[in-house]
Amino acid sequence: MAAAATAATVLTDAQIAAIKADLVELYKKTPCMPIMVRLAWHDAGTFNVKDGTGGTNASIRFSEMAHAANSGLNIAIGLLEPIKAKHPEISNADLYQLASVVGIEFAGGPVIPFRSGRKDATAEECVEDGRLPDATKAADHLRDVFYRMGMNDQEIVALSGAHCLGAAHKDRSGFDGPWTEDKLKWGNDYFANIIAGGKEGLLLLPSDKALFEDEKMRPFVEKYAADLEAFNTDYVAAHTKLSELGFSA
Ligand code: HEM
Repeated sequence: MAAAATAATVLTDAQIAAIKADLVELYKKTPCMPIMVRLAWHDAGTFNVKDGTGGTNASIRFSEMAHAANSGLNIAIGLLEPIKAKHPEISNADLYQLASVVGIEFAGGPVIPFRSGRKDATAEECVEDGRLPDATKAADHLRDVFYRMGMNDQEIVALSGAHCLGAAHKDRSGFDGPWTEDKLKWGNDYFANIIAGGKEGLLLLPSDKALFEDEKMRPFVEKYAADLEAFNTDYVAAHTKLSELGFSA
């Protein structure tokens, strides 16, 4: 029975559609799509491809929330609480990932496939601090972190394009401001900002600049700045992979 109690729940299409509708209602009232994308990524991005630890299992709701990289993400979990209460059939891990893909679509971005069935971790399965990237560091550090997840250079650049949404907040990361003119609209202008070396009033983290400074990553920045379709295609593939790190249904 213990196994059944912790078994992952695969939802029906109708169940997913009902939860999606409630997420859309949330975003109409509170345009919190960017922080949901960050929540999902910080839950999944702890994955270690070598030993299978971390990944998309909602462990972020326990001790990981106190890690500096996750500052502010308790707000996202709080915003999702009424939806989780109304739909207890969805695991927290699935809900975080669904909130992210629905948020991107709501912001005008591409439709990203979603599969349910992620199992929620217990508090004991939390990973140590330091698995998520440090925004003050450059390409070598990004490679250390993303290669550990099983990602490559192209996927690092594509995924960084999610910074077209949202902003940094002084009281969370110490950085401040949005990367693009409209932080609630999906697009490829984040890459144009990088090529311009930073536009007035817009943010570029050292880790964003690093993508253009690195000769292997720069061609992808140039490609995505010039071609929204190519960015979207590669983004969908990389995001789908990110959203399933450590999850095998
Ligand atoms: C490449 C390494 C990355 C670094 C160093 C990094 C760093 C940061 C930092 C410092 C913030 C500001 C947090 C705050 O002050 O509120 C942020 C926000 C954000 N990040 Fe990243 N990030 C990275 C990759 C990613 C990836 C892969 C995604 C998604 C696929 C992502 C999605 C977001 C979003 C959507 C926000 C805005 C959140 C909001 O508006 O509340 N980031 N990131």
